[in-house]
Amino acid sequence: MRLRIEGLEKKFEKSNFDCGYALLNDYLKKQARQNVQRDLSACFVLLDDSDVIKGYYTLSANSIQRNEFQPELIVKLPVSYSELPTILLGRLALDTSIKGQGWGEILLMDALNRCYDISMSLGSIAVVVDPIDENAQSFYKKYGFLLLPDSGKMFIAMKTIEKLF
Ligand SMILES: CC(C)(COP(=O)(O)OP(=O)(O)OC[C@H]1O[C@@H](n2cnc3c(N)ncnc32)[C@H](O)[C@@H]1OP(=O)(O)O)[C@@H](O)C(=O)NCCC(=O)NCCS
Repeated sequence: MRLRIEGLEKKFEKSNFDCGYALLNDYLKKQARQNVQRDLSACFVLLDDSDVIKGYYTLSANSIQRNEFQPELIVKLPVSYSELPTILLGRLALDTSIKGQGWGEILLMDALNRCYDISMSLGSIAVVVDPIDENAQSFYKKYGFLLLPDSGKMFIAMKTIEKLF
């Protein structure tokens, strides 16, 4: 199958998108474009040859309180940074019709690659995700994401991403 990744546009077909999670389906169908137009997030979509959306992810500027990280991970960072700059990979979802064929990994790697490129011109120490459930958590864990102690969020350091590519 030939699929490509582009920024979300109105003309793309999303009405039948189904990743198995109503929250993530509704977000794409009802909220994603508005949030892009309001500069709250960027949304990238996986498209087939007929411009049908088969997957998507969102990115936003974000920060994490210093004390949310394990102390040993931030010991070298200046204490004047009470909030540490991060990029939020807010949502990532794949249509059930193409799950289990490697497209989830391709979408995640596209997101991490893009975050790494951004971090070259806008300082950012990590990519943060907020996994929807334990399945999502184990998916992210496989790629080196670590749990933040209290919030249920996970992160991967930009320095770790650098080694992925
Ligand atoms: C999570 C999701 C994006 C994964 O996509 P996918 O196409 O099923 O995954 P892939 O086929 O690319 O799998 C890539 C690797 O991850 C592994 N993997 C996939 N889902 C996994 C899970 N839940 N736990 C652990 N590993 C997982 C696969 O086994 C594969 O590893 P392998 O190459 O060593 O076999 C997809 O299942 C999805 O959209 N889920 C619903 C929404 C969701 O949970 N989003 C994530 C966070 S909100």
